[in-house]
Parts: sequence; structure tokens; C-alpha cells
Amino acid sequence: MHREHATSHVGEYGRRRTKLDNRLRTPKVGAPPPGANESRMKLDRRFCIAPMMDWTDRRCRFFHRLLTRRALIYTEMITTGAVLHGDRARLLAYDMAEHPVALQLGSCDPWQLEQCARIAEDFGYDEVNLNIGCPSERVQEGRFGACLMAEPALVGDCVAAMTAAVDLPITVKCRIGIDDQDPEEALEALTCALERAGVAALIVHARKAWLEGLSPRENRDIPPLDYARVYRLKAAHPGLCVVLNGGIADLDQALAHCARLDGVMMGRAAYQEPWRLLAVDPVLFDEPARFSSAKSAAEALIPYIERELARGTRLHAVTRHVLGLFRGVPGARAFRRHLATEAIKPTAGADTFRAALALIADVDARSVAAA
Ligand SMILES: Cc1cc2nc3c(=O)[nH]c(=O)nc-3n(C[C@H](O)[C@H](O)[C@H](O)COP(=O)(O)O)c2cc1C
Repeated sequence: MHREHATSHVGEYGRRRTKLDNRLRTPKVGAPPPGANESRMKLDRRFCIAPMMDWTDRRCRFFHRLLTRRALIYTEMITTGAVLHGDRARLLAYDMAEHPVALQLGSCDPWQLEQCARIAEDFGYDEVNLNIGCPSERVQEGRFGACLMAEPALVGDCVAAMTAAVDLPITVKCRIGIDDQDPEEALEALTCALERAGVAALIVHARKAWLEGLSPRENRDIPPLDYARVYRLKAAHPGLCVVLNGGIADLDQALAHCARLDGVMMGRAAYQEPWRLLAVDPVLFDEPARFSSAKSAAEALIPYIERELARGTRLHAVTRHVLGLFRGVPGARAFRRHLATEAIKPTAGADTFRAALALIADVDARSVAAA
């Protein structure tokens, strides 16, 4: 059905689909199994793991998927320019085990976004997410990221171009506002434009971004969190899927927000203390955890490590994401120290990881409920 709208929609940008556009498409490489299309439209967003540049690469995502079957996982942000003109196969590669996985794009160009959404669909991604929350200078220079909070009509055009082109759900990750914007008005105007464009969900990092004077890192901590603004948004738009992001430290907090919203997105706490993810399935989905302990999850990573090493990946590229897995468990410091010194050596192999794991006390006393 969406495809029928595509032609008329493309016309809005004065751009017809050409043979070149078709060549930009790629053969289906990671397509999920039959029936996945329907389940994609019903993606459960109760618990999402945030897109984090340099952190949530494909190895990290594979590891996180070992810890939870149900979380919706996001890639790092990739610009549409990189997808269209860069080493696409490398940038968009992922493991089938990662499903459900969303591709996050950065751009302000409806036509490029439309092309990239098609490519994402061909690659088998489950969702495309547009980043309008990143305040970095580089992103501002490209006129995308958080500065798009000031251009709701353009963001609407971007989302409309994608929803018309593909069957995938198109979502947006935003802030509650930027600089001196009034979050009541700014977020409302954006939401109305996005609803008209057919957005499938809005993920709100519940603080403003200050575009000048703060680094991206400071912009994740200094502007105050305002969860109430996101609750009001949901109350005003009950039909819209609203996911809360920002400062969620544990699953108790996640559960509390889920009572008022459609879901939560956890970033730093998920990455820095990935053991918490083991409790996501039981606590939020009432399903058994994949592993009864962090140590058994880590052992299950070994075949993947062996596969990656055989492809020429350095051990550290996988194990750097695992460093926080045993935080608070006896032996955790020795585990981290061993990996920090040994996993970076060119000769490091799966045995290096096994040796690090042997330093962890066998009984991981922390219960899943503590997450
Ligand atoms: C290292 C790092 C990289 C990030 N990269 C992205 C990114 O590529 N796209 C994005 O939308 N947000 C990015 N973020 C922001 C997170 O997605 C999230 O909005 C933010 O960390 C707040 O959530 P938290 O308090 O749960 O960490 C990044 C955050 C961190 C810590």
C-alpha cells in the first residue's frame, strides 16, 4: 500500500525515481524470515537499547542480543551520505541474530532518506529511525541532528518521504526542545508534523539540547530531565507510540515509566552495566531470561568470538563491549584488567577471553531481580 503513495510523494521533491535510484538498491542480504514483515509493524518498543556512536556497533549488538531476546536494538547513527556513497556493505552489515534491529539515520534530506530507507528495507532492518537529537557541531554543520527540532515541517517531509517509500516503521528520536524553545510548543509542533507524516513511534530524550556552549557529552547530562513533559505528550497523543529516553538507570525505573508510556530506551546504563539486560525479558516481558548468570552469557559469546577472529577481527573489538558485564562481582576488576592488557595484543584469541572469565567467581550471586 505504501508503495502506491511513493510516486506521488516523490513528486513533492521534484524527483522521480530513476534507474540510478534502483541501482542504489541492494540485493536482500539480511532479510528476516517470512512473516517478519507483519511482526515488524508490531515491533514491541517496551524496552529499547539506545543508538550510541562507537558503542553500539554490530559486535556490541550481538552481545546485547545474547542478554535479551526482546529488547529492540538500535545501530549507531549513520549519515545518509555514508550509506549512499560509502562502503555500504560494511556500514550496514549486521548479524541475523540481532533482529529486531533498527537502523538510525542522520540527514535532513527527504530524497536521501527515502533512498536509504529503501536500502535499509533491502538489508532486512526492522525499523528506520531518524536522529533529531544529536547536538554535535559536525552534525549541526550538516543541518541535521538536534537543530532539526527547529524545523518540524522539514522533519515531517523527511518522515513522509520514508513512510511512502517502504513498509518499515519509521520512527524519530528527538529532544524536548533546543536552546530557548518552549518544550510545550516545540515538542507539540514536531509531534503534530510527525503524526501527519505517519511516524510509527517517537522516542524522546527528555531534556533539551543546547546547541552552543555544551559538548555532546555535556548535553547528555547538564540540561535537566523533564519526564513530566513526555508524560504530557503521551496524554495529549494517546494514539502515538511514545518511548522515553534519558537517565534511566535500572529496570525498576524502566517499569515505572512503562506504566505511563509505551516504552523506554536505555543508553549508558545498558552499555556500561550490560548485566542489567539479563533481566529485561523476565521483568518487562514476563519471559525467562536467556541465561541464568552473566558468566554463562559470556561463555555463550565464545563461538561468536571465534567466528569474528576467523574473519580477522581483533579480540578487543568484541571484548571492549563486555567489560562492564561483571561489575560488582568478585573478580570483575581482574577480568577487566586482563582484557585491557591482553585482548589488545595482535595474538589475543578466544583463550584470552576464557582466561579472563576464569577470574570471575563461579557463583554470580547477583539475582536477575537486582537489575
Ligand atoms: C557514546 C554515546 C554515543 C551516542 N551516540 C548517539 C547516536 O549515534 N544517536 C543518537 O540518537 N543518540 C546517541 N547518543 C545518545 C543516546 O542514544 C541517549 O539518548 C543518551 O545517552 C541518553 O540516554 P541514557 O541516559 O540512557 O544514556 C549517544 C550516547 C552516548 C553515551
